[in-house]
Amino acid sequence: MTGYGVFTTAVLKWFAQHGRELPWRGISDPYGIWVSEVILQQTRIEQGRDYWLRFMDRFPTVEALAIASEDEVLRLWQGLGYYSRARNMHAAARQIVELGGFPRSIEGLRALKGVGDYTAAAVGSMAFGLPVAAVDGNVYRVLARHYGIDEPINTTRGKRTFEALAQDLLPVKEASAFNQAMMDFGATWCTPRSPRCVDCPVAETCVALRTGRIAHLPVKEKKLKVQERHFSYIYIRCGGMTSLRRRPAGDIWQGLWEPLMVENEPLPDLNCRLTLLASGVKHVLTHRVLYADFYFAEPTERPVLPVGFQWIDEHDILNYALPRLVEKLMTMLPDK
Ligand code: ADE
Repeated sequence: MTGYGVFTTAVLKWFAQHGRELPWRGISDPYGIWVSEVILQQTRIEQGRDYWLRFMDRFPTVEALAIASEDEVLRLWQGLGYYSRARNMHAAARQIVELGGFPRSIEGLRALKGVGDYTAAAVGSMAFGLPVAAVDGNVYRVLARHYGIDEPINTTRGKRTFEALAQDLLPVKEASAFNQAMMDFGATWCTPRSPRCVDCPVAETCVALRTGRIAHLPVKEKKLKVQERHFSYIYIRCGGMTSLRRRPAGDIWQGLWEPLMVENEPLPDLNCRLTLLASGVKHVLTHRVLYADFYFAEPTERPVLPVGFQWIDEHDILNYALPRLVEKLMTMLPDK
């Protein structure tokens, strides 16, 4: 790699003209910078600004925060959400006081409660001039577009790629300005939906602009959402017989057998008492989590079964292929 050059220079120049005025800009107090970073982790800058001012007014130093009660810290945080941020910050303030001051290395910062790679780099560069790139969502977007990188930004590999590139572009003696420049540039110019490519200072070298991929970068890998399902099984015992059905195609456990069951429906009326054997039994599949209730019923007469279910001799049940979840149910049945 060539290290920083045209891109870095242009972004720094842009920052000098268009950087946002923020109350924590230009301070070198690590505590104030850290508080701003924690607030801005999940909060928009307009809302974060007022909270930062109030927070710093009430707790102007890390010592003041460390001796505060958690209740008071949380009250000041009220409305910002993600309260673990406040609790971690409070705990970290006590760590810092015990250490006798703010850690001045990335490793030291990383060891504080709630401080990850991004926050350590942000505080380290802005408060102590450490030459470490702080890569937040804005930075991923700017780099993915400008360098035309379609590697997903939410994978370990992708993160490494972008972090390495940001680190490569970082001007060692201006780490603080560069990190803030990238964040501001991403937040106000190279925005997700309506980037200002027309007056972009690095448009000429932007790969995404040249190849028409602005709207398609950055790429995020779709995380398969784990689906939750709730099953209720009723194992019927009636005159030595029980009921099973073969599971239909197009769903989990195709072709396996299972006792009477309902999903998201009321239990069928079997004209007898149901015994709850277990409830909320958790069963994890690759893309699903199942929660099952197991019931046992012993009617005196065979009830009419829903379509697809049939009566089988209980002794034969082990000749049928059963899902593991149903085997769990079987272990809970009362003796015959
Ligand atoms: N977002 C988080 N930290 C920031 C900072 N220091 N400047 C601009 N945007 C930010």
